Amino acid sequence: MPTFTDPFNQMTPKRTMTKRELVRALRADIAAEEDATSLYEAHVDATNDPLAKKVLQDIANEERVHVGELQRLISILLEDEDDWLAHGTAEVDEMAAEVAAEAGEA
Ligand SMILES: [Fe+2]
Repeated sequence: MPTFTDPFNQMTPKRTMTKRELVRALRADIAAEEDATSLYEAHVDATNDPLAKKVLQDIANEERVHVGELQRLISILLEDEDDWLAHGTAEVDEMAAEVAAEAGEA
């Protein structure tokens, strides 16, 4: 179970992080943002109060912006990050095309 509330989670005391450690910390930060997004959206779905729904969804969307910021930072720090992400995107696009083609054949 992640320990997102520990401010020193995955940090090495008494020295700054290496680039590799920094990227790992940023990936943990992304996971925390995704966890927060899911929590806020669960609360949106669990209430009928219109103002609470609006505020909570706005906060959830802000967390999604933070994910983008953190991912962009990793992409700047690691020259191969975008290549790996593009590889994953291409794999899913290929599967989506296969599913669409299969649906067209039905
Ligand atoms: Fe955030």
